[in-house]
Amino acid sequence: MDEPVLVLRDVAKSFGSVVALRSGTITVQRGSIHALVGENGAGKSTLVKIVAGLYQRDAGVFRLDGEDVDFTSTAQSKAAGVAVIYQEPTLFPDLSVTENIFMGRQPTGALGRIDRSAMRHEVERLFTRLGVTIDPDRPAEGLSIADQQVIEIAKAVALDAKLLIMDEPTAALSGVEVDRLFAIARSLRDEGRGLIFISHRFDEVFGLCDTVTVMRDGAYIATNAIADTTVDAIVRQMVGREVGDLFPKSPTQVGEVMLSVDSLTMPGVFHDISFDVRAGEIVALAGLVGAGRSEVARAVFGVDPYRSGTVTVQGTTVPGGSPIAAMRAGIALVPEDRRKQGLVVEDGVGRNITLAIRRTLSRFGLITTGMENRAAREWASRLEVKTYALDSVAATLSGGNQQKVVLAKWLATEPDVLIIDEPTRGIDVGTKSEVHRLLSELAGQGMAILMISSELPEVLGMADRILVMREGRITAEIDRKDATSENVMFAATHASELSS
Ligand SMILES: Nc1ncnc2c1ncn2[C@@H]1O[C@H](COP(=O)(O)OP(=O)(O)OP(=O)(O)O)[C@@H](O)[C@H]1O
Ligand SMILES: [Mg+2]
Repeated sequence: MDEPVLVLRDVAKSFGSVVALRSGTITVQRGSIHALVGENGAGKSTLVKIVAGLYQRDAGVFRLDGEDVDFTSTAQSKAAGVAVIYQEPTLFPDLSVTENIFMGRQPTGALGRIDRSAMRHEVERLFTRLGVTIDPDRPAEGLSIADQQVIEIAKAVALDAKLLIMDEPTAALSGVEVDRLFAIARSLRDEGRGLIFISHRFDEVFGLCDTVTVMRDGAYIATNAIADTTVDAIVRQMVGREVGDLFPKSPTQVGEVMLSVDSLTMPGVFHDISFDVRAGEIVALAGLVGAGRSEVARAVFGVDPYRSGTVTVQGTTVPGGSPIAAMRAGIALVPEDRRKQGLVVEDGVGRNITLAIRRTLSRFGLITTGMENRAAREWASRLEVKTYALDSVAATLSGGNQQKVVLAKWLATEPDVLIIDEPTRGIDVGTKSEVHRLLSELAGQGMAILMISSELPEVLGMADRILVMREGRITAEIDRKDATSENVMFAATHASELSS
């Protein structure tokens, strides 16, 4: 029998008094795609970072290819054949795509000079193999999360790794991109490499992986063959209780028009976008990644400019290009890329949550430390943010818990109009239905909610009305009662009008 690629047994890691990992245990075989699942904060990324050489374990067995190893740097881990795609892309914005792919290991020609044409050539070969159409010479700055993730994958494949670890690689990818990634993963598996795949999406775990290991509270719970287990069984092992994946929106009294967007146009980005959102209503913007949904949201909130059209809140025109004006008018935007755009990572959890309300309230001299702490505590607990103290630095939270902090920050401002981009991305099953319940409750209190989501069950379960975007235009408006995954997908991928 072949040695497994990776063996971890009872690996532990603490940060001060915080035990991030108690007993990390996993055995990854060659030619296998091994899912690693667990709730937000279960210790998955910590385990990965130990294998990557980013953290050193406090205890436990760590064996690669049958040999005991101890990595004190990521370079050692890379040299041993481990490639990691992290939860947050780690590209250097100023460097070109090609330079990023070869970061730290540029091929050198005669006289030790960096061989640029060899690099270019290699990247072209790689992109062809992976079906990537990104310009290798452009800077990484300004690439969408999806494209950044694709480049991370290219980086890993270029390394010719024997163990490839993907920490929630699909969170920002559209269906086509996910399919492409899975095809690459399967071909690497067929070449006899070992893969670890972390995801909160069970359709992916079951569609791609052959084995699954479940973690809870930093500890190993179970390993099963995918063929021998079920979603329900895994969820029970993850959370130790039964949970519903979806909390359908409760019907509410729909009131007056709160947000009205009329003929909003930004040439080349979106065209002639018109819609209303009423008090108590959740309107979903559905469509594929790249359809222009986030761009519309950012324009409505004033982060990005638009060429023509108007945005009105409760009958008053909101001047374009000014988030401050949008906030004054009662709009809040929870952005898609929350770590970059929404979180002050070096600040405490509590301060992050109250950041936005502090800005509004302190102008009127209304906020006290007591109020601030109460608000922070209330929202942290409503969203089940897993942290040891409200003054823990946000950077030390797990990816999913960081998402919740940014959600909490904007919900705490209690806006009239909430625009929320991918509300449950990176959030585990247990909290997902909690976020859905909260959104439903806020709509029930009269909030108008515009929700962008790439998850069809979420769109179908939560939206009163669905606007489908394709290539910068609204191609269909579908009422809750008529919506099916088929007609939403059809409108997202076909040019013709489906309904109106
Ligand atoms: N550098 C650090 N300092 C302090 N605590 C940390 C640090 N890194 C992780 N933790 C804590 O360890 C626990 C496990 O975090 P980890 O990131 O491994 O979770 P995860 O399973 O990847 O969760 P998610 O699904 O949300 O990404 C969390 O409670 C987190 O706050
Ligand atoms: Mg993680």
